[in-house]
Formats: sequence, C-alpha cells, structure tokens
Amino acid sequence: MCTDAAALVEAIRSLAVRGAPLLGIAGAYGVALAAARGFDVAEAARALEGARPTAVNLAVGVRRAEAAYQAALARTGDPTAGAVAALDAARVLHREDAEASARMAAHGLALLDELLPGGGHRILTHCNTGALVSGGEGTAFAVALSAHRAGRLRRLWVDETRPLLQGARLTAYEAARSGMAYSLLTDNAAGSLFAAGEVDAVLIGADRIAADGSVANKVGSYPLAVLARYHHVPFIVVAPVTTVDLDTPDGASIEVEQRAGFEVTEVMAPQVPVTGPGGGVPVAPLGTQAYNPAFDVTPPELVTAIVTEEGAVSPVTPEALAQMCAGPAAG
Ligand code: MRU
Repeated sequence: MCTDAAALVEAIRSLAVRGAPLLGIAGAYGVALAAARGFDVAEAARALEGARPTAVNLAVGVRRAEAAYQAALARTGDPTAGAVAALDAARVLHREDAEASARMAAHGLALLDELLPGGGHRILTHCNTGALVSGGEGTAFAVALSAHRAGRLRRLWVDETRPLLQGARLTAYEAARSGMAYSLLTDNAAGSLFAAGEVDAVLIGADRIAADGSVANKVGSYPLAVLARYHHVPFIVVAPVTTVDLDTPDGASIEVEQRAGFEVTEVMAPQVPVTGPGGGVPVAPLGTQAYNPAFDVTPPELVTAIVTEEGAVSPVTPEALAQMCAGPAAG
C-alpha cells in the first residue's frame, strides 16, 4: 500500500506498478495523494515523473493532476480545493484510459480482420499489456481479447519477456483467466516460430511513440519487428494517444531506462533460497557485468500500423501520426 508519493515512487521503480497507461494513472493519483496529505505538490510531482524515464504516460498523468491542483489553488487559494481537483483529474484520466482501451480493441480487431481475412489469428505478443496495466482491458492484449471473444483468435503466443518475465508472470495469467488458447515461449524461440509459419501477426504495446513513429517498448520488441518484416508478418503497435509524444522527434531522442545488472545475472525467484546481492538466485559468476536496457526502439519503417483510440495509422508517417493525435476535429 502506498500512503505517500515517496512510497509510490518506490513502487514504480521496483515495477510493482508498471506498464505505460497504468503509470500515467498512478502518477496522477500520486499527485492527488501528495496534495491531500499536505505535501509539497510540485516536489512530489517531480519525484513521480522522474521515477522512470521512458514511458511518457507517467509525466502526462502527473502533469495533468498537478495542473488541475495549481489551477484550483490559484482560483480559490485553498489547498483542499486543489487536492479535490487533482483527484478529479486522476479519476478522469483513469476513466478516459478505460474508454481508450475499449476503442483500441475495436480498431485493432477491425485492422486484424482487414489484414488477415479468414480469421483464426495466431498472435504473438511481448511483455504485458492487459488489464494489469490499464484502466480498462489494456492495449495490445485488449485487441487479442476482442479477437478471442469474437471467436477469431486461434492462439496467443506469449513471449516470457526476460529478464523480469512480465509475459510469463502476467500475460500468461491474463490469457489463462480469459480462457484463451495460449502458449508461453522463451523470447529466443520466436525466430523458429516465425520460420515455421506459426505467427500471423505481432501485437505489442508501447511506452513512448516519437513524432516520427519510432516505438519504444519492452526490450525484445525490436528483434520481433525485424523477424516480422523478414517473414512478411504484420507488426502492429497498440497504444493510447497519451503514449504518443510529439515533443520527442525521433527514436534516438527517447531515453531508454537502464536497469540494475542483477536483474540479468540473477533469476528473481522468491520461493527458492536467496543468495545473490540482488535478492535472487545467481545464474552468472559473481561480479559479471550486465547490459540491461528495459526497452528498445523500433523504427517506423518496421511498424505496419499504430492503433490508438482514434483509429489506425498505416503506413506510419509523422504526418499521419500528428493528424491522428490532433483528434477527429482536425481530420
Ligand atoms: O518495464 P515495464 O514492465 O513497465 O514495461 C512495460 C511495457 O513495455 C509494455 O509493453 C508497455 O508499457 C505497454 S503497456 C500497455
């Protein structure tokens, strides 16, 4: 339980709270919490938005709640009114994310049906993008779920998602409880699965989409995009508009979080005796250096389509993306 913003910052860093849309919602509630408890709201907001650098939703959520707080304070001079306004803003964001999720699911399923006439989709996904990271049923997973409900999902291939196993721990759980046909694979088994012709489409979420359409998502997404291109399989990114950051011009400008090496050199398995300095079971010699980026960046030319609550962009161009983000009025 988080009773102040500092505890929430720690929960975000340790990935107890994770996934781009949920980070935005949690960040907004964190500002409301700081305001309600009489903390310095600007200080809490900076700590929250700095907790992890890659998912832009975190800063979006924090700033929305902070702006609501500041506006109410300026209007009334009353910090309690500011706290109420911040909480309202967090609730609105939470509700909007649920609505966006439902719309992404509908747009994503329509796109799948268009790209893969005949149904019986075999979809490969990476990391965790379902209800556990969303106000609704998620992003990429919500599309797979709607295909399942429509009787058009033959199998969900779930990448285990090393090193922290979001696929094995979380997506497999979400797939099982929805009654989907699913199989778990190690990340490095994906190549042979494509080669065997067993993948009809890849569906992933995103942590930040730059103005040029570059997509930052959980490390291991970019190799899937390369495989998908080689095997002529659609590579589809599903994310709310809040994940598109038009202020980040391109993929090279996205800050990719680097995480502690022990996440790679140890396996985090709380049920077995703990021996490693990171609290897990060492699988590499003590002192081994590790390369552990949390995300990678897929260039737009490898992305078949980006689906948001506003519709689908394909091919992915800066102009089409900007137009979609401007909303229906601009169309
Ligand atoms: O490090 P995590 O677990 O926060 O990474 C999450 C992902 O990469 C998800 O794919 C992304 O946030 C999209 S979630 C709808």
